[in-house]
Amino acid sequence: MSERVFIGVAWPYADGPLHLGHVAGAYLPADIFARYHRAKGNEVLMVSGSDQHGTPITIKAEQEGKTPGEIADQYHREFLDSWQKLGISFDLFTNTSTANHAEVSSEVFLALLRQGYIYKATVSQPYCPHCQRFLSDRYVVGTCPYCHASGTRGDQCDECGRPINSVELIDPHCRLCGDTPQFKDSEHFFLKLSAFRDRLLAWVKQQTHWRPNVLNFTTRYLEQGLKDRAITRDIAWGIPVPLDGFKGKCLYVWFEAVTGYLSAAKEWAKSAQDGERWRAFWQGEVKSYYFIGKDNIPFHTIIWPAMLMGYNGDLKLPYDVPANEFLTIEGKRLSTSRNWAVWLPDYLSRYDADQLRYLLSINMPETSDTDFSWHEFVRRNNDELVATYGNLVHRVLTFTYRNFDGCVPEYGDLDRPSNELIETARNTLDEMGNLISGCHFKQAIMHAMRLAQETNRYLDDKSPWKIIKQDRLAAATALYVAISVLSCLRVALYPFLPFSSQRLHSFLGFEGNVEDDGWQLRLPLPGQRLISPEPLFVKLDGGVVEEETGRLGGDHG
Ligand code: MF3
Ligand code: ZN
Repeated sequence: MSERVFIGVAWPYADGPLHLGHVAGAYLPADIFARYHRAKGNEVLMVSGSDQHGTPITIKAEQEGKTPGEIADQYHREFLDSWQKLGISFDLFTNTSTANHAEVSSEVFLALLRQGYIYKATVSQPYCPHCQRFLSDRYVVGTCPYCHASGTRGDQCDECGRPINSVELIDPHCRLCGDTPQFKDSEHFFLKLSAFRDRLLAWVKQQTHWRPNVLNFTTRYLEQGLKDRAITRDIAWGIPVPLDGFKGKCLYVWFEAVTGYLSAAKEWAKSAQDGERWRAFWQGEVKSYYFIGKDNIPFHTIIWPAMLMGYNGDLKLPYDVPANEFLTIEGKRLSTSRNWAVWLPDYLSRYDADQLRYLLSINMPETSDTDFSWHEFVRRNNDELVATYGNLVHRVLTFTYRNFDGCVPEYGDLDRPSNELIETARNTLDEMGNLISGCHFKQAIMHAMRLAQETNRYLDDKSPWKIIKQDRLAAATALYVAISVLSCLRVALYPFLPFSSQRLHSFLGFEGNVEDDGWQLRLPLPGQRLISPEPLFVKLDGGVVEEETGRLGGDHG
């Protein structure tokens, strides 16, 4: 029975390049998940887009002397290029500047307003007398009212993860001129989160399949009580409040960004010439997954579900929100402002996508923070990806190609170790399927690597290269078994390493896309023509470590 899966992935702010934290936190796990489900024959819709509004973008634009639109455009184009090179297979990667998105966000706003879940109130807002502007979100910095971290921005605390109302900051300062703000009255709309607390708590308590960190964070947050949140801002760059009399006010960037999951599904349906098709991924038999980093948890487990409950369009609440922890870089917290980051476009200009996908899969920050270091990158590439998997493929295929006329050989009786290895390969696919559908990606790829190791041991035992002269059929049989495992690994590793899997698929003489073969072990047919193989991965020189660590923390230009 084919299932339907909606995959929403966090919308990156279009205020700077992507880095490995983004990849490990959300995009890679989402892509592994999507590719697996597609191979399995399930219907997948995976969407996201550039988050182009709000103060992250206007601040960047001011720093660069450009318009917010120019900044948003520039990074949006760069994101699309990175997804293509890294193989992140979105069904749609749109952005929040489309007319469709403004329409859907406004409709959600108005529906919530009609139901009484949005109300208007006059509130005092920080206002900088020197800059003569309201200081929304990132324009104001101060001390976190919850955990007392200093240097906290007015939208969210990086330290404790809580969303903040800028008025709550202790000891606030204007980010641009450093002045202490005054407070001025302004009219704003509030989302009545308090009205959803009991429903949310009851719902969250049922989500026992969520990761413990996600479940605990959300439950703790809800148990402390929910405050209503202002969802409009005194800012010109965004989606205008869709009512007369609110000039100069826009929807809060987070309010509209999360509605992007719905608007993107609608945009995708329209471009598929079937305006109603989005419903299949939002209503009825469908499971929705949201792949995000841990700093985005409350927006996806509390605010967005509350909006969906209040909007009452019969829309699916998240089934799972497998938020990842953080990726540190060389043992230190990633910091974009201090350039302590590995930028994705830089990485992709120098190395292969699958090499990164391998390391970040096998070292994914699923249940705790993990570290990226260039030393580990080189070591695991050379000792695991190349030595265990790449060499296995290469020695089997080159030897077979040379000695059996470039074809899958005819084989004899399979002995017990041979049958067992093929059985292990089949089981590996089943086990990996269960692990991936439960969002345990790290364990899943470890299973595939273990299968490659076992196959290396099998070949060492059988040594077809030694016996081919005396017993050609025994050598052919061992190679046939190994080729069968390669056929399995090409599928098993496809969600993680799509580029090399596709190459292996063609080396093995299969046509079309590896994904279309399904999540199953397809045994190659004796006589099937192979394609002259080339190494799947390159070995990396130790010099990479020094060169790349030298780039960290310096000027990024
Ligand atoms: N732009 C936000 C960030 O980078 C994430 C938005 S996720 C969305 O933290 F769901 F709101 F779109
Ligand atoms: Zn805090």
